[in-house]
Amino acid sequence: MERSESRQVQRDANPPAAFADNERLRTYLEIASKAPMEPAPENRLETRGALAASRGFLATIEKRRSIRQFSNKPVPFELVENAVRAASRAPSGANQQPWTYVIVSDAAVKERMRAAIEREEYETYARRASDEWLAALAPLGTDWRKEHIVQAPYVAIVFAQVYGLKKSEAGIVKVKHYYVAESVGISVGFFLASLTHAGLATLTHTPNPMGFLAEILERPENERAYVVIPIGYAAAGARVPAVSKKTLEQILVTQ
Ligand SMILES: Cc1cc2nc3c(=O)[nH]c(=O)nc-3n(C[C@H](O)[C@H](O)[C@H](O)COP(=O)(O)O)c2cc1C
Repeated sequence: MERSESRQVQRDANPPAAFADNERLRTYLEIASKAPMEPAPENRLETRGALAASRGFLATIEKRRSIRQFSNKPVPFELVENAVRAASRAPSGANQQPWTYVIVSDAAVKERMRAAIEREEYETYARRASDEWLAALAPLGTDWRKEHIVQAPYVAIVFAQVYGLKKSEAGIVKVKHYYVAESVGISVGFFLASLTHAGLATLTHTPNPMGFLAEILERPENERAYVVIPIGYAAAGARVPAVSKKTLEQILVTQ
């Protein structure tokens, strides 16, 4: 059977009416068919404009590197706030938007985070990490010392809401969240892209473990620290590991 033919058969076999005997699905379709709809936002560009926009964005994103030395040059807060706004536009499982962006600029809080992070990182480098892990890290030249936490004007700590909390007559109840890790990962991608677009430097830092961050930042029980992102301008003369990216041929498959 031709591929297109089999698809046709598949579609024909599955019209909603075929499930008329399924009460649960009938109820679902009844509700889903009444979901309020609105016009999709207009974002189409003519080809020349599209190519220019696409190439411009690519040129910007190609300048993104993980920066580990920051200048103390102040950063307008709106740049960070807009990046959180951009992050909030990410798609998410069932539109549950299971993320919280905590932005720290207070020197004392940054110092506490740095001390706790360095304690954990020291354990990782000295004892917890396997030889294989250390071998993967060595080309990056990183170690347990995390001065960037206090150097960068802002540190974003992104929390994943592993479940929601909703007020009900019975009090606060838990709401199951779907695809949390995928959703938060996409949102963080938007966040990093927005900051990069604004000429800022970032580091994607995942101290391991990072449970202590929820304590320091007094986050609710449903939130788990997902990533720590120092934000600022790169220090003059900042250096990055000379690593390469996979080529398009290695990562792009067309059929
Ligand atoms: C999920 C994730 C976790 C990371 N954790 C750390 C980290 O804990 N410390 C660090 O210095 N870099 C960390 N990085 C940065 C990577 O080392 C970096 O992205 C990689 O070496 C490529 O370099 P580039 O970001 O400059 O392109 C992390 C990156 C990702 C995506």
